[in-house]
Amino acid sequence: MSILLTGGAGYIGSHTCVELLNAGYDVVVVDNYVNSQPEALRRVETITGKKVTAYEADVCDKAAMDAIFAKEKIEAVIHFAGLKAVGESVAEPLMYYRNNLDSTLTLVETMVKYGCKRIVFSSSATVYGAPDFSPVPETARLGCSNPYGWTKYMIEQILRDWAAAQKDVSVVLLRYFNPVGAHPSGLIGENPNGRPNNLMPNVLNAASGKVKELKVFGGDYDTPDGTCVRDYIHVVDLAKGHVCALKYAAEHTGSEAINLGTGVGYSVLDIINSFERSTGVKVPYVITERRPGDVPSYYANPEKAAKLLNWHTEKTLDDMCRDSWAFKSKNPNGYEA
Ligand code: NAD
Ligand code: UD1
Repeated sequence: MSILLTGGAGYIGSHTCVELLNAGYDVVVVDNYVNSQPEALRRVETITGKKVTAYEADVCDKAAMDAIFAKEKIEAVIHFAGLKAVGESVAEPLMYYRNNLDSTLTLVETMVKYGCKRIVFSSSATVYGAPDFSPVPETARLGCSNPYGWTKYMIEQILRDWAAAQKDVSVVLLRYFNPVGAHPSGLIGENPNGRPNNLMPNVLNAASGKVKELKVFGGDYDTPDGTCVRDYIHVVDLAKGHVCALKYAAEHTGSEAINLGTGVGYSVLDIINSFERSTGVKVPYVITERRPGDVPSYYANPEKAAKLLNWHTEKTLDDMCRDSWAFKSKNPNGYEA
C-alpha cells in the first residue's frame, strides 16, 4: 500500500516525501510540474536512498487519476496540488478556482470509486483572514481576502461535507502558518518561479546579491519593533506533521482542522537578525511603505496538533535561516543545472 502525494514534487510535498520514506511508507507522486521540476524527486531519492514512483499528470484529469488509482494500491492521499500565489489569484481568479477546486473534486471522486477513505489536505492560515487575536485557535472566525484563500476555505468545506456524509471517511485539514527553510542537506528547498512575493525567498535574493536590498514592508506597525510578525515554521517540522496526520487519519474518522505552526511570532527584523547570525551573511534592507492587505501580527495556537497528533516543532529560527541559505548557496538557479 502506498501514500499518494498530489503536488508531491513541490516545496512542501518533496520534503514530506523524504519524511514519509524515512518513516517506512511507500510513496506515489502525481504532479503536472506547473510549479516544480522532476529533479526535486530525484533528489528525494538521493537523500533517502529509496524509490519514488512518479506520474506526470494533472489532478484535474479524471482518466489519468483513474489510471493511477487502478495501477497503484493507494491507502491514503496527501493533497498538496494547487496554485498558491496570492497576487496571481487576484488577477486570475477563475484559473485558481478551476485548478484548486476541480483537482480536489476529481481526486475525491476517484478516491470514492477506489474505496480510498483518508485524506490530508494542505490548507492555510490564510483561512483566518485577519485574525482578531493571537495565538489563533482552530475555532477562530474564518474569512478570506483573496481568491487563493477562498479556494482553501471552499475545499475545507467540501472535504468536511464528504466526511459528514460518509461515516468511515477521515479528513485532516492542516492549516500551515508560514513555511520556510529547506532540507539540511541543501539538496531540496523552495524554488519559486519568477519574482517571489514571500519573505524568505526575498531575503535570500538580497543576501546573494541577486537584488540590491530587501524591501521591508512597513516599519510603523504596532508590534515590538514596528515590522510585521508571523509564525515561521521549518518545512521539515511541517513535513513531519504530515506523517503524524496520516497516523491520526488511520485511527480516526470524521474531519479535523489542525494548525501547524510553532506558536511563536517573529518579526521581519528578527528574521534578518537570525539570518545574519546563523549564516554570517549580511542582508541589505530598506524599510518601505506597508504592503496593502498585510495583517500586522498573527501566530498559531498549536495545542490541538500537540494533543491530537502528538506533534511539536523542533527547529529554531536560526535552523530555518541556515537551511534556507544552504539550499540557495548550493542551487543559485534552483533545480536548473
Ligand atoms: P508548490 O507550488 O511548490 O507545490 C504545489 C505542487 O502542486 C507543484 O509541484 C505543482 O506543480 C503541483 N500542481 C499544481 N496544480 C496541479 C494540478 N492541477 N495537477 C498536478 N499537480 C499540480 O507549493 P507548496 O509551497 O509546496 O505548497 C503545497 C500546498 O500547500 C499548496 O496547496 C499550497 O497552497 C499550500 N500552502 C502553502 C503554503 C506556503 O507558504 N508554501 C502555505 C499554506 C498552504
Ligand atoms: C502571504 C499571503 C498569504 C499566504 C502566505 C503563504 C499576502 C497578503 N498573504 O502571507 O495569503 O498564505 O503568504 O504563502 O500575500 N515581507 C517583507 N518584504 C518582502 C516580503 C514580505 O517585508 O519582500 C513581509 C510581509 O510584509 C509580511 C512578512 O514579511 O509581514 C511575511 O510575508 P509573506 O512571506 O508574504 O507571508 P504572509 O504575508 O504571512
